[in-house]
Amino acid sequence: MPDEKTWAPEEKTSAPGPAVPPEAVGPLMRGIAVLREAGDAGGRVSLSDLVRSTGLARSTVDRIAATFARMGYVRVDGHWLTLAPRLMEVGNAYLAALRLPALLGPLAERLAEELDESVSLAVPDGDGIRFVHQTTRRRTMSLVFRIGDLLPAERTAPGPLFAADWDASAWARWRERRAADPSGTCFPAAPPRVDEVPDLEERVADEGKRGVGIDDQLIEPGLLALAVPVRAPDGTIACALSAVSHTSRHSAASLRKALLSRVREAAGEMERVLRQAPADRSPAGAPAAGLADWTSATKQELGAGFVESLARGLTVLTAFGEHRPELTLTAVADATGLARATARRALITLEHLGHVTSTGRTFRLTPRVLALGYPALSRTTLPEIATPHLAALVRRVHDSASLAVPVGEDIQYTARVATTRIMSVNISLGTRFPAYAASMGRVLLADREPGHRLPAIELKPLTPRTTTDPAQLTALLDQVAEQGYALVDEELEEGLRSLAVPVRDGTGRAVAALNVAMHSSRRTVEECVRDLLPELRATAAAIEADLHIAGRFTRIPS
Ligand code: PHB
Repeated sequence: MPDEKTWAPEEKTSAPGPAVPPEAVGPLMRGIAVLREAGDAGGRVSLSDLVRSTGLARSTVDRIAATFARMGYVRVDGHWLTLAPRLMEVGNAYLAALRLPALLGPLAERLAEELDESVSLAVPDGDGIRFVHQTTRRRTMSLVFRIGDLLPAERTAPGPLFAADWDASAWARWRERRAADPSGTCFPAAPPRVDEVPDLEERVADEGKRGVGIDDQLIEPGLLALAVPVRAPDGTIACALSAVSHTSRHSAASLRKALLSRVREAAGEMERVLRQAPADRSPAGAPAAGLADWTSATKQELGAGFVESLARGLTVLTAFGEHRPELTLTAVADATGLARATARRALITLEHLGHVTSTGRTFRLTPRVLALGYPALSRTTLPEIATPHLAALVRRVHDSASLAVPVGEDIQYTARVATTRIMSVNISLGTRFPAYAASMGRVLLADREPGHRLPAIELKPLTPRTTTDPAQLTALLDQVAEQGYALVDEELEEGLRSLAVPVRDGTGRAVAALNVAMHSSRRTVEECVRDLLPELRATAAAIEADLHIAGRFTRIPS
């Protein structure tokens, strides 16, 4: 049933929302408005557009932006604000507490594989549906929704399944929203639709009762979706499982015929997984302790440029998570290190905005937490994650830095920041080199199991110095694995010296490598190791920190 406190229209339309409680923390409300606007704008927005869309003063927007930048949630360059991958930790807190992506994601992936169609999981959010898991298929679809996207219930397959549980007041709020926002502006992910859609009450009577929702091009021409409920052990709908196709492959009728029984079977397996999953009710392990200390110290350092109540309020969201789905005020205060009164006001504010809901004395996050930039960030690629860190490295070392990924026995450059130095080495994105002769390649080969590190290709000399003896290369790769970096001196190209370190994903696998390359006259081999290696390692660690947050519930394209 939609929760009164997660009702969508109050922020985006003129429909009157509940009055602001007197304890609400103003800076937290304004900061959240900025995050939502930046997310709705696709993750990058000019500060003056933010002033216009939020109605806040320029000086307020600047202070909010500076505070988020300090928290690592945004980057500010000139007049632009860009959401940063670290912000995904807020949405991750909700997804981890929800547990559905972790428990059901692998079954959804398997179903997508079997059907060769996109599959998603969505939860009800007010009078909308919000995606909490998405599989991506190679197939081109006109539209692919992202984790965190919100769609109006009446234009989706899961909508009638959720609306079957609405009470009279939920229906009244839905009608009110339809009247106040006929073109659906409070659903930025949904393509606008001006003509009428089939009556939701009729669909509930038909599809809701039969337990299968059908979207026959309601959200977009060409897009077909079929949804079934996945029930929690207590009988309530935990989420909807959807399979999505296209009119080029199916009609609504053929989609049902071809997929419904298999999708129902998968939902049954999901329900079994939910029944067997151990209960997760007791708060365990404090995740965020010390955050209050960090905000105080930062306030001391930055003064008026840092809005401490905003930083503290957002910190409250990250107190929730895996094994911590429901917290009392005391548990929130303990986890964050905030005073109870501070934590309480933050919770009241977050509840007012619909990001937190409470039953009795316990609080939990709502799906609306995902509106804080998650969709825009959930498609971030590894090169996008790496580039700002490469740029910071280049500013420090004054040599060009690159990122490469393995492609067979080659490496391929996927991100690069060059210096303006005249003699700089010039390599463009997409360039491939044989892994055995390049520093980044050696780091990636060294990540393979011992005994399997040699590339399965002929080792040709690229310069007079290229190592081509298999035994010698094996010994070098073992050494690289041991020391965690590779230095390659004029083996790829005469006059080129480079130093590389691995970039590891959350499982510890080297998914990419990072290097600094320079003319050999720039630094001796010893200077490279002494001066550059610590900088490279710090950069790799910063990229990995972002990668682990961004990759927790989404697959990061390399
Ligand atoms: C829908 O339009 O109902 C729909 C679209 C995409 C999904 C699921 C449902 O992944």
